[in-house]
Amino acid sequence: MTELLTSTTDATPPQRLDADWWRQATVYQIYPRSFADANGDGIGDLPGITSRVDYLARLGVDAVWLSPFYPSELADGGYDVADYRNVDPRLGTLADFDAMVAALHGAGIKLIVDIVPNHSSDQHEWFKEALAAPKGSPERDRYVFRDGLGEHGELPPADWKCMFGGPAWDPVGDGQWYLHLFAPEQPDFNWHNEEVRADFLKTLRFWSDRGVDGFRVDVAHALAKDLPENLPSEAELAAMDTATGTHLLWDRDEVHEIYAGWREVFDEYDPPRIAVAEAWVNPPSRRARYASASGLGQAFNFDLLEADFDPEAYRRIIVDNLDQAAASGSSTTWVFSNHDVVRHATRYGLPPNGDRPRHYNRTWLLSGGTEPVVDTEAGLRRARAATLFMLALPGSAYLYQGEELGLSEVADIPDAARQDPTFFRSPGVDVGRDGCRVPLPWTATGRSFGFGDAKAHLPQPEWFGAASVEAQSDDPASTLNLYRDALALRRELQADESLTWAPSEPQVLHLRRANGWEAVANFGSTAVPLPAGEVLLASGPVDGELPGETTVWLRN
Ligand code: GLC
Ligand code: CA
Repeated sequence: MTELLTSTTDATPPQRLDADWWRQATVYQIYPRSFADANGDGIGDLPGITSRVDYLARLGVDAVWLSPFYPSELADGGYDVADYRNVDPRLGTLADFDAMVAALHGAGIKLIVDIVPNHSSDQHEWFKEALAAPKGSPERDRYVFRDGLGEHGELPPADWKCMFGGPAWDPVGDGQWYLHLFAPEQPDFNWHNEEVRADFLKTLRFWSDRGVDGFRVDVAHALAKDLPENLPSEAELAAMDTATGTHLLWDRDEVHEIYAGWREVFDEYDPPRIAVAEAWVNPPSRRARYASASGLGQAFNFDLLEADFDPEAYRRIIVDNLDQAAASGSSTTWVFSNHDVVRHATRYGLPPNGDRPRHYNRTWLLSGGTEPVVDTEAGLRRARAATLFMLALPGSAYLYQGEELGLSEVADIPDAARQDPTFFRSPGVDVGRDGCRVPLPWTATGRSFGFGDAKAHLPQPEWFGAASVEAQSDDPASTLNLYRDALALRRELQADESLTWAPSEPQVLHLRRANGWEAVANFGSTAVPLPAGEVLLASGPVDGELPGETTVWLRN
């Protein structure tokens, strides 16, 4: 018997290791500069992450997604990469990276790293070479350069605006201008250039060889561009249909040729490396291309980021995304919070205010978080209910550091302390994303609430002490323990990627997984009868009935 089990014959191909681990993984996003600071300089670092692996293991996550940790001048929080195959010296060394990977893997946690292929930093060697080289040179061809208009090229080639406010074309002093869809310090690569393509394959192999399990692909829908001789105006660009795959800048069909090449690299490894695309595409059905098994394999579905706390909206989003995932062969991804949006405990404490996008409460942020007044208690209650419901859905769950503490957005950051380019480039219009990037509170007291020995690089509010890991760890009713319990149960209960809806009142969503696992969310403000079944976990007190704004997990 033993012999039968251990013997392999030529007829049995070797099993690939655990190739589907990502399909329903819980992935925890770390924004490294704000997670834990091991050397006391106020900036989170890789040894800080290594020192907290026990915390991640106890939390019960399957993987970590690490936002950029590469050398960067921090013009955009590290999304301006100066060297794709190194570690920012302020965050550590490659040896520290290896130690972090070993510690994570030792705890059974996979690692996904962020890769930023649309643009580099202006401090990247290649961009410096491009500036030093003449017009028409191979050095300039790695980026997107154009002659300016006007007699001496003194006018921009087009009136395009960048994502952070202000012009998207900047002059380099010799009549030429370069394109940056994001900050001026983030010049866009020219993906028609073979050297650019080859260099990214090298980067994918570099990190895969170091044990990285996958990649989160930044602005995956922007790489392929087709700029005609005569550039259209901003208004003409905005009027172009994105549904056809032929928009000049966004979501062009040929971007998938690039990812087909990446897939070949991913499949050189066992298990194959995985990838998840950040692709804000419209219509959402175009996401399936990114999620295809011959491409990146998975794509973020950001629909819950935009959703009000409303059962009909949730149901529609869930049904649509499960259908789309089935169409692409991938699994879907659920996200409430990340480093770009207002934390969901805060969003759900604010009235729907007409701001779009819904994940970014612009007016409220501009008021310093005073107008309208946040109902913090209701926000957290709804966030807990929403998260517990989401964690019962088929697919991957992406969590953002600090949401397990129920943190709210920090809205009262003084102007002098702000870091996000959005703030500097759109004065008086946008304050940016610093409020969800404030370093985590680990202890109830101390100079930076246990983040490190120095003051944190973004100021932490007083209330962080009461929200700290230390303050919550032993409290069975804390948000931290809700997440721990939910992730442990989720692992134990995980079932095939399907669900059915049980009949329910309009204010309630009641889903069933194949193995008797059920989740019931009451979105209303009044209690409803508790459906039958063994109560496994609840987002708030449950006593005979299911109170308003509460989710319960049942087993039947
Ligand atoms: C992505 C990142 C965001 C960054 C932008 C430019 O949207 O999530 O943080 O600013 O890309 O790289
Ligand atoms: Ca540090």
